[in-house]
Amino acid sequence: MYLTHLSLTNFRSFARLDSDVSPGVNLIVGNNAQGKTTLLEAIYYLSTLTSFQASQQRELINFLAARQPLAVARIEAEYQRGERTHHLEVRVIQEPNGNGGVRVRREVLLDRLKRKSSEVIGHLNAVLFLPRMFSIVAGAPAERRQYLNLTITQVDPRYTAALSAYNKALSQRNALLKQINERGGDPGQLDYWDELIAQNGATLIAARIQTLMELEDLAAIAHSELTHGAERLRLIYRPAYDPLTDPANQLSLPLDAPIDRRGYSEGEIAAGLKDALQAARREEIARGMTTLGPHRDDLHFLSNGIDLGTYGSRGQIRTALLALKIAEISWLKKHTHFWPVVLLDEVLAELDNQRRADLLRRLANIRQALLTTTDLSLFSPRLIDSGTIWKIADGRLER
Ligand SMILES: Nc1ncnc2c1ncn2[C@@H]1O[C@H](COP(=O)(O)OP(=O)(O)OP(=O)(O)O)[C@@H](O)[C@H]1O
Ligand SMILES: [Mg+2]
Repeated sequence: MYLTHLSLTNFRSFARLDSDVSPGVNLIVGNNAQGKTTLLEAIYYLSTLTSFQASQQRELINFLAARQPLAVARIEAEYQRGERTHHLEVRVIQEPNGNGGVRVRREVLLDRLKRKSSEVIGHLNAVLFLPRMFSIVAGAPAERRQYLNLTITQVDPRYTAALSAYNKALSQRNALLKQINERGGDPGQLDYWDELIAQNGATLIAARIQTLMELEDLAAIAHSELTHGAERLRLIYRPAYDPLTDPANQLSLPLDAPIDRRGYSEGEIAAGLKDALQAARREEIARGMTTLGPHRDDLHFLSNGIDLGTYGSRGQIRTALLALKIAEISWLKKHTHFWPVVLLDEVLAELDNQRRADLLRRLANIRQALLTTTDLSLFSPRLIDSGTIWKIADGRLER
């Protein structure tokens, strides 16, 4: 799939932007603080309805516009998905809340009709690569869970629904655990939430098991090519609740022992998780929080048996991440039947010549990529000739 047009209104630094986008490689060249990352953020936001840099939606609304009680940041794109043309629009709306303050809400329109977020996530597929994604490999576990969630929601609406239900149930259950801990009460009240956590949690765990196996296969091939066969990449899923019948024994296994959990059905995982919650109930009441379940999962990146999160060199981590992103592109193609739009924010500057050449060679196969840079000389003359070059300055994009 590929974007043909992008319009932004009061989105961050862009009061107004209206531009065609070319198929193939789009190189966006500009100095610092001209809006390069913002452009990619806008496109990724359409894809996932999540900003990779705003903690609150209101940050997306242009500062000046947001001084008024009523302000709307609007992102609109026209894109080609197979034979069909679609129009996607997201409005982030700040409006008076009736008490003298303001509130922020969102509207999503696909082909001009209002839709629920869950119906739209993953309609426009994108793969994003930022230098700071280093943290997927070497940062906190929450970064890896976020990565898994954003990736799987692109192809699996059931996962999206389960994630939302799980998170709601989790905060209710945690509140109840805390309340029972502090003020006492009937622990039987937890049964209802245990059930929801187990059902939805099982959907998440099963999808993570499957996805990580698939991504590992694809990433290992890319990684082997990138390292000329010298290193072997493995993605190791470490679920907080492990459906393996005897997780106690598994802890003594080496991290890279091959474990295939695909034999467990969702029903089996749910039943096991529910039992585990029951068994942990006293302890969870004492701690006032839910300690088991996919909100505590982790994932390890191993190269030749070495955990890159702990022992990886910068170059090794970068290569593993590049392999992961390459895997994600073909994984999305496999599941959606369309090439995703690839968004690379100043990634090339971070790569050595060989890895840069490898990445650019792969981009030649896909339908569309947007690459930002402050320095056009990083790109080969051939790529510059075959791509579309955009100059970005003062909120304007010019071919
Ligand atoms: N809500 C907002 N309203 C107005 N301006 C904003 C808003 N949020 C961010 N900005 C500004 O937008 C500008 C462009 O930011 P962006 O990160 O897109 O630049 P960039 O071209 O990627 O720069 P760099 O090369 O440094 O990465 C920044 O000066 C930033 O302060
Ligand atoms: Mg930037």
